[in-house]
Amino acid sequence: MNWDQVYQSAKSWTLEAGDILRKATKESFQVEYKTSAADLVTEKDRQIEKFFIDRIKETYPSHFLLGEEGMASDQVFDYNNEVVWVVDPIDGTTNFVQQQKNFAISVGVYEKGQPKIGIVYDPIAGELFHAQVGQGAYLNEHLLPKQKERTLEEAMISINQLWLIRNERVNHLLFEQIIRQARGTRYIGSAALEIAYVACGRLDTYFDFRLSPWDIAGGMVILSEVGGVTVDLENKTVNAFTPTVTIFSNPNVLDEIVTFLS
Ligand code: IPD
Ligand code: CA
Ligand code: CA
Repeated sequence: MNWDQVYQSAKSWTLEAGDILRKATKESFQVEYKTSAADLVTEKDRQIEKFFIDRIKETYPSHFLLGEEGMASDQVFDYNNEVVWVVDPIDGTTNFVQQQKNFAISVGVYEKGQPKIGIVYDPIAGELFHAQVGQGAYLNEHLLPKQKERTLEEAMISINQLWLIRNERVNHLLFEQIIRQARGTRYIGSAALEIAYVACGRLDTYFDFRLSPWDIAGGMVILSEVGGVTVDLENKTVNAFTPTVTIFSNPNVLDEIVTFLS
């Protein structure tokens, strides 16, 4: 497999798809509820996923696509044995609909379950985060530095408010001391952007407990290239295909955080 070529394809298709979404923010489009008013899908989500399916089928016919909208549901594959493009056509659909900003296209390419390429693109900010395994991570053409020495006191934490109130997934009281000690909290509402922001140091730790492979597959490659880590509440490494309770973090900040989680 010529991974340099796949990397170029992934970047140029994502930029092209970003153009479609940027234009779409100025047009009207169909919005549907998936399960509730907080869980939306638009015709643009489907259009972008289809855009990737068509290009992958044409250029890399042996590759598969795992996408949030299930547009390639006729495919049967085992991610442990194939090359799989894990695509979230719009990560942050609520923001796309309500804010027309703070959303991203997320693309991760994995071979036999192993990360190869990660792309997270914010088409409104014009920020393309991208990485090929072993070659560092970039924001547009700038190489991102490795994760900085940082303490929890200096850290910016991202967490959805749902995890700070009583919920069915985690003990919300675990986060009290972490939040109290941290410099601040910021929540964007796009997991892919949140992870990319940890990678570039705008955030230091992002907690989320209801994620799917397409939310994180692209960002995880970018984060690991700068020395960031993805673990569960027991500090065990998380695999992009089986995410549940997940922490994306600067490793120094994580060292302090785990002391509050045990
Ligand atoms: C969602 C966003 C959100 C995260 C959710 C995801 P979507 O993705 O990334 O920030 O908290 O768990 O499902 O539905 O906008 O693609
Ligand atoms: Ca998503
Ligand atoms: Ca989505």
